[in-house]
Amino acid sequence: MSLVTIMPSGKTIEAAEGTTLLAAILAADENLTHKCEGKAACGTCHIYIQDGRKGVSKIAREENERLDTIVGIGSKSRLACQAKVLGTMDIKVELLGFGSGL
Ligand code: FES
Repeated sequence: MSLVTIMPSGKTIEAAEGTTLLAAILAADENLTHKCEGKAACGTCHIYIQDGRKGVSKIAREENERLDTIVGIGSKSRLACQAKVLGTMDIKVELLGFGSGL
């Protein structure tokens, strides 16, 4: 179990191992666009992980390729639908106020 803090609202939610950040964020009643419903195909669920990046699953090729197509990515970027909570540490994510360009 990890505690996921969602910025900028500061809401927190507990997420079990294997939960995607997208599922955790939606369970916290936060709004995050996810047009392809978690297939790493749209990029609209792009978020930043501010803290606890080692507490989520590694980036797979599919996610990496999708991130490469998004405007505004950085070292903290992840697709919320692909990053799964490992349950080893707490995580702080930031929902982005700008579109992904897609
Ligand atoms: S919901 Fe489409 S890439 Fe995550």
